Amino acid sequence: MKRKVTIAVVVVVLIFIVVMATNKVLSLGKDDDINNQVISLDDKLKVLGNIDTKIKYFKNDYINRYLAYKKKNPNLTNERIVLEVNIGLDQEFYTNVKKSSHLNTPYILVNKFYYLDQDYVPDKLEVIDTKYSLGEKYLVNIARISFEALAKKASEEGYTIRAISTYRSYDYQTTLYNNYVKSDGVEEADTYSARPGFSEHQTGLTLDIDNVSSNYMQFESTKEFTWMQNNAHKYGFILRYPKGKENITGYTYEAWHYRYVGVVVATFIHNNQLTYEEYYAKYIENQ
Ligand code: DAL
Ligand code: ZN
Repeated sequence: MKRKVTIAVVVVVLIFIVVMATNKVLSLGKDDDINNQVISLDDKLKVLGNIDTKIKYFKNDYINRYLAYKKKNPNLTNERIVLEVNIGLDQEFYTNVKKSSHLNTPYILVNKFYYLDQDYVPDKLEVIDTKYSLGEKYLVNIARISFEALAKKASEEGYTIRAISTYRSYDYQTTLYNNYVKSDGVEEADTYSARPGFSEHQTGLTLDIDNVSSNYMQFESTKEFTWMQNNAHKYGFILRYPKGKENITGYTYEAWHYRYVGVVVATFIHNNQLTYEEYYAKYIENQ
């Protein structure tokens, strides 16, 4: 009799443990519980594989966003979850926008989450040697010097590289974007043109190039493009909107659009096939 009672008690306790554990696991997936902080911080960190101890850019404030993003993207690694949420990719483009920091440095990030004020004009804008540009075009001093060195080297090796669009003011970008919206509508225009304040052309560190003989939109199929792929980073430039990274950059592939970030960063980005968004979130944002 006594033995039967003991077995019954053990069974009831086991059932209780299983029910509680199941509830716990299920509750991890509930947004309400996440938002109402029903789950302890320790448990949330466990869901994320305690990745906070392994990466410097983990943000405790974003923990519920990480969990929600993980639920929507169960196949991503925890590191990737944190990185993409830090970039802002759990939100719609052009929502929760912030002012760009690192103004007047080669590390500034301008994209669909980071903007420049209407009156932001970079320091040290200088005219590019017209041998390498279409008319009078301006870049920030360090980008101007680096681009001229790049174009000169290309020329010595038999390639023609010309700057066709460089620094653009807020007002110029307004006209450009509005014209695109008129012809293609907002949704389409947003895939290839930045809204005013959100164009990195306003940083003075960015330029569009061609090879003079073909339209810039055909730049990908020129020998100059291949040369740029092999050499741009040596002069501090990166291909800013690469193919296959549209979901991160927010823009369709642009073979002609380059951004100055300095030789060390450009070389790292080139070797690791990163976007500037990824580099910035990993190595610049929290420094
Ligand atoms: N075409 C790029 C995205 C710009 O408008 O800045
Ligand atoms: Zn451009």
